[in-house]
Formats: sequence, C-alpha cells, structure tokens
Amino acid sequence: MKTLVVYSSLTNNTKKVAEAAASAIEGAELRPVSEDPNPNDFDLILVGFWVDKGLPDAATKVYLEKIKGKKAAFFFTLGAYPDSDHADDVRLATEEILKKGGNEILGSFRCQGKVDPALLERMKKMLPPDHPHAQMTEERKARLAEAAKHPNEEDLAKAADFARAARLQALGEKA
Ligand SMILES: Cc1cc2nc3c(=O)[nH]c(=O)nc-3n(C[C@H](O)[C@H](O)[C@H](O)COP(=O)(O)O)c2cc1C
Repeated sequence: MKTLVVYSSLTNNTKKVAEAAASAIEGAELRPVSEDPNPNDFDLILVGFWVDKGLPDAATKVYLEKIKGKKAAFFFTLGAYPDSDHADDVRLATEEILKKGGNEILGSFRCQGKVDPALLERMKKMLPPDHPHAQMTEERKARLAEAAKHPNEEDLAKAADFARAARLQALGEKA
C-alpha cells in the first residue's frame, strides 16, 4: 500500500508530528504540502496541518480539496487544548472537506503545538484591547504555557500509533 504523509508546518510543530507518523509506516513517503505530491499516486494519504484561525491552514485546505476517492486520515497541531470544542470544530471542518471529495476517513489525531511568540506580539499590537486574543488572561496564559511543551514525546508516540492504526484500517485489519 503506497502511503503518503503530507504536511504543512510554519514553525515545525506539525513537521515533527508528521515525521513520527511517517516513521511508523514502512515505506511511507513524507512530503511537505509545498511540493504538491499527486494524491493519485498513493493508496493511503495522511494529511498534517497547523490550525489557522480555526481551520486547516490555507495551503492544506487547497490540498485537501484535491484528494478524491482515497483512504485518508489527518492530524493537526494547534494552540488550543486537544480536547476543546475548538479542536473538535477543526476536525469536523476537515472531515467535511474530505467527505466532499468522496474520501473514506480513517481517523484523526491532534495535539497542542507551541505558538510562535512573534504571533502573540503581533496580535497584541494589531487587535483592539478588548479582543480576547489581545488580552493575557490567566486561562490563556496557562493554555499557552501548556502549548509551549508540545509536541512532546508522548504526542509523537500517539501520532505513530494513529498512523499505524490508519494503515491497518486501510488494509482492512483491526488496530
Ligand atoms: C497565524 C496563526 C493563526 C493561528 N490560529 C490558531 C487557531 O485558530 N487556533 C489554535 O488553536 N491555534 C492557532 N494557531 C497556533 C498554531 O496552530 C499552533 O501553534 C501550531 O502548532 C503551529 O504549527 P507549526 O509549528 O507546524 O506551524 C495559530 C498560529 C498562527 C501563526
């Protein structure tokens, strides 16, 4: 089974997760989305992305729309907690795109990823002071401090498990 792990990553969080996923599947090809690998050359496609304003980043969104009639799974890193409604909304939006392309979805995985401090600084300067992203509440501080520890070894191990399970499912076997 020809497997592709394709990813988009600005600050390497998602890249690390993609590497862990790819290393769990023998012979998997690991490619950045910028190389635009042809989905039709593969039987199983794992798409990894970073969350941008509640959605897959723009390059990934374009790529997801090109995947048609495949066995697919996806993973993402985000600043929010992985068990948040926000993370669930990202999952649902991504499933929606893949379903539209007639793909069979074989699971998803997500973990936090440290948020670029330059972004936080930009937000503070650009947004009106009463905007939630312009303020540093205790809750937000704690969330960003937790994100700064990810992806960690446990996340990478879970990403590898997710990739193995997707492959087994694609082969029609139980994980
Ligand atoms: C422009 C921008 C927008 C972001 N938007 C969100 C968001 O809507 N929700 C969220 O949870 N994290 C958001 N983040 C945080 C990133 O998704 C997170 O840090 C991710 O791990 C970055 O992955 P990367 O290192 O692979 O680029 C945003 C980051 C940037 C730079």
